[in-house]
Amino acid sequence: MHGTSEFHLEAIETDVPFGGGTTRRLTYGGTLPGPTLRFEEGQRVRIHFTNRLGEATNLHLHGIPMPPEVDAPHRVVEPGESAIYEFTLPAGSAGTYWYHPHLHGQVARQLGAGLAGAIVVTGPIDRAALGHASEEVLVLQDSGLANGEVARVRAPAGLVRLRIVNASTARTWALQLEGAEAFLAGLDGGFLEAPVPIPGVALAPGERADLLVPASRAGEIRLVGGDAVLARIAVQGEATVELPERLAEVERLDEKTAVATRRVVWGGALDPLRFHVNGRPFDPRRIDFEAGLGTLEIWEVENPMRMDHPFHLHIHAFQVLDRNGVPEPFRAWRDTVNVRPGEKVRIAVPFRSFPGVTMFHCHVAEHEDRGMMAHLAVR
Ligand code: C2O
Ligand code: CU
Repeated sequence: MHGTSEFHLEAIETDVPFGGGTTRRLTYGGTLPGPTLRFEEGQRVRIHFTNRLGEATNLHLHGIPMPPEVDAPHRVVEPGESAIYEFTLPAGSAGTYWYHPHLHGQVARQLGAGLAGAIVVTGPIDRAALGHASEEVLVLQDSGLANGEVARVRAPAGLVRLRIVNASTARTWALQLEGAEAFLAGLDGGFLEAPVPIPGVALAPGERADLLVPASRAGEIRLVGGDAVLARIAVQGEATVELPERLAEVERLDEKTAVATRRVVWGGALDPLRFHVNGRPFDPRRIDFEAGLGTLEIWEVENPMRMDHPFHLHIHAFQVLDRNGVPEPFRAWRDTVNVRPGEKVRIAVPFRSFPGVTMFHCHVAEHEDRGMMAHLAVR
């Protein structure tokens, strides 16, 4: 692919339609959620981001592998200012991502006010195995609805692909499909090796799921979360549906070659409400961990608390090995994984490219705002 594809994105406060009336929200591009950005593996992308809000913000492209200096989560884009985010989508990066503000201390409020949108990266696997699927992107936001309202979509009978982003500030959604079977095809920015039938999927803040739904005849398919209907899909016509047998080759990481095992222990206290990692609240000047470029590490993320704390690492994708000793049922590249109360999740993370200082944090926005965040230097 040649040249650079230009994208323009604005943060703007505006009235958006909501529940029959309108509501004042912080938006990207004037819509709730913001526009879905569509990229291709191998593509060079330049995003011109302009802040038209009355307050500082910034832009974070959650999960996209890019140099830490481009990610720049500490950058401040003042009102009226613009910033450029330019990067190349690596081979193998096809998946579902999203964008949101990352201004420390303001994330819960700005994200909760509406600032979120989906990113879809496609590649050869999408064309070869899933080219026949119709696709819907659903962004779950705090309002409790998908795409601002109960999403109503029509799809021709056939294979329906649902890319679901949990852009809530704090809510873990237990999602289920009614009216059809669901197969998990991918999580976050990566495919599974093959679609796996699943009764439902739990998505913590920051996590994404790529679902395949064989819809062979006319009728309604509903995506429900708890007792709320989030999306209604009206299927029309009839078709014989083919589910791909294979999707991707997902590399098996050899744990024995890991050079270090680290512990990440989530913690916090009430009154005043504060959160920390390994006993220390976030310090923007401190480097908490150092890792060697070209090495593999095992991280043990522990949650001794009574609430969910989804772990998110910028830039470097990882695989979940086990949860409380129970091996993960399938291999997949992730950037976010929920760590439930009392759980210890072991992940394997290879540091293959993109040296520099980056970060990891809990993706409950209020927790990261209040200190559940740390820096990692890869050298
Ligand atoms: Cu989606 Cu550091 O964030
Ligand atoms: Cu948390």
